[in-house]
Amino acid sequence: MAPSIKNINILPDSAAVNLALATHCLEVSEQAIADKGSFHLALAGGSTPRSFYNFLATSEFAQRIDWPYTHIYFGDERSVAPEHADSNYLMAREALLDKVNIPKNQIHRMHGDHQDLQQSAIEYAQLLCSSIPVTKNNFPEFDLILLGLGPDGHTASLFPETDILQESNAVVAAVYVEKIQTWRISLSYPTIENAKHVVMLVTGGNKAEIIHDILHGVSKNPPYPTQRLQEKGILNWFLDAEAARLITDLVYDADTGC
Ligand code: 6PG
Repeated sequence: MAPSIKNINILPDSAAVNLALATHCLEVSEQAIADKGSFHLALAGGSTPRSFYNFLATSEFAQRIDWPYTHIYFGDERSVAPEHADSNYLMAREALLDKVNIPKNQIHRMHGDHQDLQQSAIEYAQLLCSSIPVTKNNFPEFDLILLGLGPDGHTASLFPETDILQESNAVVAAVYVEKIQTWRISLSYPTIENAKHVVMLVTGGNKAEIIHDILHGVSKNPPYPTQRLQEKGILNWFLDAEAARLITDLVYDADTGC
């Protein structure tokens, strides 16, 4: 019998995923604002989150989340200008940030278009450590980090066989990704692992195989970068049925326990 893994939320479709995840985000934000008067959220890039961001901006949640106390950051960014079609910042702006009443100075763009990405990473790390409470290990403690998953098991810009995977001191790092022949800037493993809540948002049948491998603990060479986060038990998965079609053996009914 394969081990049953908690923290896997499987919803029938993308709309149900959006509602479940928005509810989770609201709960985390309310607790964070009650505890310290602020909510620090890092957004995922790529294409999957666009539907969720649109839902946040156009549903009741647009009024229920306390945007004036919310600070928005990014998990990673491409080495493009903020108006470029590939920009994670542009996607979040169009789908969410331009539609809710969050103060513009509380939206903290990752400067992937900086000439010197290493300098950009240093400056973003300084911003994080001055805006977000820092724990004893000198890493910022996000209230919630949203992540996506690539078919090669990367998340944020933690790609297989890249230097950033060995980064244990920097909060943010620039990384050259040979496979896609481009520079990225990304939160490092220790920063992600220091967050109070980490969500892995994955929808669509094209991710079923990689989800199967990661949640079944299939070891690959090189290893899937997301595997390290899963093994630390910090990921809260939000999946639609198509993405989860190869892991139904792992999910048990909490009521019946089987
Ligand atoms: C990025 C993301 C990356 C993304 C995955 C999934 O900048 O591309 O941060 O980690 O989440 O590649 O991308 P899709 O949602 O487009 O499948």
